[in-house]
Amino acid sequence: MSGQNPTASKNTWNNRWTFILAAAGSAIGLGNIWKFPYIAGQYGGGAFVLMYILFIVMIGVPLLMAEAAIGRSARLSPLNAMRKLTSELGITRAWNGIAWMGMLTGFVILTFYSVIAGWSLSYAFELLSGHFSGMSPADVVNEFDGLVMSASRQTFWHTIFMGLTIFVTAGGIHKGLEKGLQVMMPTLFLLLIIMLGYSMFATGEFMRGFHFMFDFNFSNLTGAAVVAAMGQAFFTLSLGMCTLMAYGAYMPANNSIPRTALNVAFLDTLMAIISGLIVFPIVYAHGMEPSAGPGLLFISLTSAFASMSGGSLVGFIFFALVGIAALSSAISLIEPSLAWVTERFSMSRATATILIGGLVWFVGLANVLSFNHWSEVKILGRGFFDLFADATDLILLPLGGALTAIFAGWVMKRSVLSNELSLDTGMFNIWLALIRIVVPASVLLVLISALT
Ligand code: PFF
Ligand code: NA
Repeated sequence: MSGQNPTASKNTWNNRWTFILAAAGSAIGLGNIWKFPYIAGQYGGGAFVLMYILFIVMIGVPLLMAEAAIGRSARLSPLNAMRKLTSELGITRAWNGIAWMGMLTGFVILTFYSVIAGWSLSYAFELLSGHFSGMSPADVVNEFDGLVMSASRQTFWHTIFMGLTIFVTAGGIHKGLEKGLQVMMPTLFLLLIIMLGYSMFATGEFMRGFHFMFDFNFSNLTGAAVVAAMGQAFFTLSLGMCTLMAYGAYMPANNSIPRTALNVAFLDTLMAIISGLIVFPIVYAHGMEPSAGPGLLFISLTSAFASMSGGSLVGFIFFALVGIAALSSAISLIEPSLAWVTERFSMSRATATILIGGLVWFVGLANVLSFNHWSEVKILGRGFFDLFADATDLILLPLGGALTAIFAGWVMKRSVLSNELSLDTGMFNIWLALIRIVVPASVLLVLISALT
C-alpha cells in the first residue's frame, strides 16, 4: 500500500488503492461464493460459465467504467449527479429515474442479501461451537432445513448482519469503510486459496469439478441460461444500480478508471471461479449433485467441514469470511440511497444509516418468512425471496445497466467521458461502441427472449 493520496480530502478516499478495494469489496460477495457455484450448477456448468465470462468482458467492464466516470465527474450521490448532468444538458429529468431505480434496487437486494449473510454467520457460529463435528451428510441437510424453517433463528442473524452493516457504514468512508476493507479483502483471498488447496488435494474429485466448470455442453445453453448468466454478470460486478457511481464520487482524480475496472472485473471473476473449483469437487466427493440450488454451500461444503479433521475451525473461518465478503458488499448496497439522504435532508450519516438500515431490516423479514410461515404466499408464482431475487437479477439490474449505458453513450458530452477515462482515441472508440450498441442491444435481446 503506497502513501497517502496528495489530493485526498474529506470526500475522496485517502489511499489510491482504496477505490479498487472498495469496488472489489462491493463486487466480491455472496454473488461469487454462494450464488455463482449454485447457478452454474443449475444451468449445467461449462457453457453457462463461458457466457458469464463473455458478459463480464463485453458488458461488465465497459459499464463499470461508465458508472465510475459519471460518479467522479459529478462528485455527488447518484441522484444528484444525474440531476446535475440532466440540468446542465437541458434534457428531460426522466433520466434521473436511473438513480431512483438504482436506489430501489440496492434496497431490495439488501433485504435478501442480509438474510443469506445471516445464514453464513449462523453457520460460522455453529461450526465454531463444534455442533457440526462428525455429522452425517443427511443430518447436515436436516440442519439446513431446520434453519430455513425457523423464522426466529433467521431473524436473529439477519438482525446481527444488518447491525454490523449499519455500524460499519455509519463510521463513514474513512474510519468505517476504508480501514475495514484493507484487512478484509486480503484475508478473504488467502482463505479461499487454502480452501482451493483442500479441494485439489483432499477430495479426489478435483478434475471432475474442473470439467463440470469448463467443458462446454452447448445443449445446456437455453434462453433461461443466457438470461441468468447476464443477470449474474451485473449482480456480481455490482452494476446497474449506481453503486459504482456512488463510489466513483469518492475516487481520486489521478486513479485510472479503465485499469481499475479491469482489475476489479478480474478479481471478481477469479473469486467466482475459485469458489466453483472449491465447491464442486467437494459436492462430488460427497455423492451430491451440483444442481442442489441455494443450499449448495450450506449443505455440501458443510458436510465436508463436518467430516474433515479440524473442520470446525476451517469451517468457522470460511463462513466468517463469507460474512465479511457479504458485509463489504452490503455497505455498498446502501451507499446510493444513503449518500442521497444525507445530501437531501441535512441529516447526519449515522442517523440516515439507521433509518435506511432499519427499513431494510423490516422488509427483510418478508424474505425470512417466505421460507416458512409465508411459504404459501405467492406473487407472480414466487415467494418474496424468489420474487425479490428474480426481479432484481433478471429485470432491474439489466435494465438499469442498459439505461446507464444509453445515457453515457448517447446523451452525455463526449468530452466529459474522455476526460475521465483518458484512453487513447482507438480504445475510447472501442469503449464507446460497446457502451452505445453492445450493452443496450444485448440487454434488450436477452430481456425480450426472457419475456417471450
Ligand atoms: N456484487 C455483490 C456480490 O457479488 O455478492 C452483490 C452486490 C453488491 C450487487 C452491491 C449490487 C451491489 F450494488
Ligand atoms: Na461478485
